Amino acid sequence: MRIFSGIQPTGAKHLGNYAGGFRQYVATQDLAAREGGEAFFCIVDLHSVSVEYDPADLRERTFDLLALLVATGLDPERSTIFVQSHVTAHAEANWLLATVTSFGELRRMTQFKDKAEAQEFVSAALFTYPVLQAGDILLYQTDLVPVGVDQRQHIELTRDIAERFNARYGETFTIPRGVYPETGARIQDLQEPERKMSTTGGTEQGTVYLLDPPDAIRRKLKTAVTDSGREIVHREDKPGISNLIEIMTVATGESIPEVEARFAGQGYGAFKEQVAEAVIALLEPIQARFREIRSDPGELRRLLSVGAEKARAASAPTIEAMYERMGFVRPS
Ligand code: AMP
Ligand code: TRP
Repeated sequence: MRIFSGIQPTGAKHLGNYAGGFRQYVATQDLAAREGGEAFFCIVDLHSVSVEYDPADLRERTFDLLALLVATGLDPERSTIFVQSHVTAHAEANWLLATVTSFGELRRMTQFKDKAEAQEFVSAALFTYPVLQAGDILLYQTDLVPVGVDQRQHIELTRDIAERFNARYGETFTIPRGVYPETGARIQDLQEPERKMSTTGGTEQGTVYLLDPPDAIRRKLKTAVTDSGREIVHREDKPGISNLIEIMTVATGESIPEVEARFAGQGYGAFKEQVAEAVIALLEPIQARFREIRSDPGELRRLLSVGAEKARAASAPTIEAMYERMGFVRPS
């Protein structure tokens, strides 16, 4: 069994990333270990440059993200953690797979439409971003892709691209499946609970960053927008409270009914305070580990070269098969 997921280094990582990403990476790393499989986690720096960014910031944040992946529980001995640009097969797969992806398919991607609206300069790379993502996944003969639900459309497109390539050139790729968490698959912005929590689209006050100090977390949760009424229940017409309940499940591992039962009859204010304390308890040990790991750049560099080596070896047979089947003359 092969697990693969990717995460962008730019933009400060937040509670939504933890819920849909980091937390699931650790769970699937354990699943792969039990099943005798392999897990790959990729820092997708090539994706990050599809929108406006600062080169110095990209460099720093690449190391930050590596440290955060380890601090949240990934084990570089058991999993392959690597930087996308270190494995040139990703950029090659992007070009080859673009030939079996249609303009119409890419034009329908809602993430492209949302991000394009927020950009002054809409790059061609932003448009073809899902092709690069399909290559990431398919190069490793991936079975499962742990992600948040915002990535569902990209995963479905990846499956279509893989099926089309297989039909045209012969069986080459495993058809991957997305894995979404039961709760917290889409954490919403605390200030605007109808929008997802996000570094680019959300509000500063409504976004809890994984490296936020306790005071900031308390302040953000205290001012979280709630709904009319006073019941602490997870219901469609209560987006604010439902989101806080989901955040609680992510922080404590409880189910939604367990959280509802524990806070039945209590007021919104007390509940928000308790959510803040649970999030702080979740993040404090992660932050302490992060600071320790991040302070050793030599070790981080070493981890990256080990990861790149493993990822190159794992993806080499697939990129070679792609070239062969597409009729390219290979160097001898
Ligand atoms: P990104 O930082 O955009 O590369 O996203 C990394 C991972 O976090 C992906 O699996 C996303 O689906 C997930 N993710 C991002 N925002 C949220 C959110 N608000 N709720 C749940 N998962 C999210
Ligand atoms: N597009 C994903 C995001 O924004 C990141 C990503 C890139 C990814 N390549 C991937 C996720 C491969 C899963 C698998 O969150």
